[in-house]
Amino acid sequence: MKHTHLPFIDYPANNKILTRELLEKEYPAFVRHIEKVFDAGQSHIFRWWSELTPSEKKNLLDQIATIDFCLIKKLFNSAVLRPAQTSQENLTPPHVIAFQKNDAEKEMAQRVKLIGESSLQKGEVAILTVAGGDGTRMGISVPKGTFSITPITQKSIFQLHAEKIIAGQKRYNIRIPWYIMTSKNNDAATQNFFKERQFFGLNPQQVFFFTQDMFPVVDLQGNVMMDLKSNIIMSPNGHGGVLVALKEKGVLNDMKRRGIKNIFYHQVDNVLIKIADPVFVGYHLRDEAEISLKVVKKCHAEEKVGIVVYINGNLHMIEYSELSRKDMYAKNEDGALKYHAGNIAVHMININFLEKVYQEGESLPYHAAIKKVPYLGEDGSVIDPKQNNAIKFESFIFDILRYVKKSVIMEVPREDEFSPVKNMEGENSPATSRQDMINQFGRWLRNIGVSIPTDSQGNVIGTIEISPGFALDEEELKTKVDKQLQFNGTLFF
Ligand code: UD1
Repeated sequence: MKHTHLPFIDYPANNKILTRELLEKEYPAFVRHIEKVFDAGQSHIFRWWSELTPSEKKNLLDQIATIDFCLIKKLFNSAVLRPAQTSQENLTPPHVIAFQKNDAEKEMAQRVKLIGESSLQKGEVAILTVAGGDGTRMGISVPKGTFSITPITQKSIFQLHAEKIIAGQKRYNIRIPWYIMTSKNNDAATQNFFKERQFFGLNPQQVFFFTQDMFPVVDLQGNVMMDLKSNIIMSPNGHGGVLVALKEKGVLNDMKRRGIKNIFYHQVDNVLIKIADPVFVGYHLRDEAEISLKVVKKCHAEEKVGIVVYINGNLHMIEYSELSRKDMYAKNEDGALKYHAGNIAVHMININFLEKVYQEGESLPYHAAIKKVPYLGEDGSVIDPKQNNAIKFESFIFDILRYVKKSVIMEVPREDEFSPVKNMEGENSPATSRQDMINQFGRWLRNIGVSIPTDSQGNVIGTIEISPGFALDEEELKTKVDKQLQFNGTLFF
C-alpha cells in the first residue's frame, strides 16, 4: 500500500480542499503540530478529516501533539539504510561466573548468599517487572501476565510471581516493593486483574504500576499507520522505555524514599524466575556491580535469545534479530558455540548507576522490528495483513550495558531458571513452560529421594505443582516432604 503525501487533501464534506492553512485556521492552538505532520510528509493522517466529529478531530490532534514526527523519519531512514545484521569486529565472549559445580564454587555461592540475604532483610531490593509488551507473538488480547500457567491450579503468571514475592517476604521478614511497568494498551486490564484478585495476598500498598511511553507504528514506506479514522496506531516503545519511565513517573524517587539501593529486574514471561535470588543479589553486591546479568548457555545457534558479549572491551548485548549468521554459528575448537551466553533478561541494577546515566544525559537507541499489524486501508476498512507490513520502533534496556564499567555475569542452569512463555504453541509456549515447571518439581522431589518416573525425554510422567507458599526451592521442600512420599501421577502442595 502506498500513501501519497498531498499538500492538500480532498475534503468532500463541504466541497472544500483541506489544506494545511485551512486546518491551521480551524485549530490555531495546534499550528506547530500540524506543520510537523505536513513537513514530515504524513498528511495522509488527515485523509478522513471530513468524516470526523469535533471530538474525534480534537482527539486526533491531541494524539499528534504527543508524537515526534522528525524522529519517526530519522528512525525509518536509518532502519531502511542500515543492514539489520552486521558481523561485528572485535567480538569476544564474556567472562561468566559458572554455576556451582564444584565444592569451592558451592561454598562461594553460600558466602555471597549471606550478603544477598542481608541486603534483602534490610529492605534494600525492589522488584521491577516489565510487562508492557503487546504479546503479539502469543496473539492474545489480554496482558501476558494474566495468562493461566501453573500445571494443576492454573494460576496466572502474575499470581505465580506474587506468591514468590510473598514467600520471599516471609523468609526475610520484610515487605518487598513490587513495581510493574505496563503500557497504555494493557495498564487498565493489568491493574483490574490485580484488584479483582485482591493482589493475590500482597498488600496493595506495595504494588506500583506505571506506564511506559508509546511510539507510532509505520508501514514499510515509513507512513504512520491508523486503526481508526481518528487514531494513529501506537505501540509500547520497548522495555528500554523503562529508563525514561522510572524517572518521569517518579518511580526512582519512590524507590529512594523507601531506601532501595538495587533493583531486581525481570520480564513478566519467565515462569521459572527466581525472584530476588539472594545468590545473584550477593554476587552483584560483592563486586559492587552497576548492572548484573543472568545468562544461560544457548541451546542452539538460532535460539531466540540475545547474546552477551564484549565489543572492543565493552559489555554489550546483541539481540538475536541483529546477530549476523557468521557470529550466530561461530564455534570454539571443541565445537561448542562461541557466543553462547544467552540473555534471560534477569538483572540487578544499581540505583546510583541509573542516576549517573540520567545525569550524563544518555539515552537508548531505537531498534526496528518488522511485524504484522492490522490497519485501516485507504477505503477506510480494516485490513488484516497476511504478511509483515509494519515497523515498530523499540528501545532495549540492555543497550544501557555499554555504559557499564562493573558487572557480574552469572550463568545459571536453564532447567532451573529459564522458561519463558513467548508463543501459543511449540517452543517457549504455555505447554513447554508447564512441563518445565513439572520437571523442576520432579527434580526437587527426586533429589529428596521420592521416586518420580520420567519418559525417554526426561519429562515427568504425571503432573506436579508445588506452590511457592509451600516451598520456594528444593531446600525448603526437603524440610517439608520425606522420601516415603508415594507419587501416584498427580501431586499438589
Ligand atoms: C527478549 C530479549 C532477548 C532475551 C529474551 C529472553 C528483547 C528485545 N529481547 O526477547 O534478548 O533473550 O527476551 O526471554 O527484549 N516489554 C515491555 N515493553 C515493551 C516491549 C516489551 O515491557 O515495549 C516486555 C514484555 O512485556 C516482556 C519483555 O519485555 O516481558 C520481553 O519482550 P519481548 O518483545 O517478548 O522480547 P523477546 O523477543 O522475547
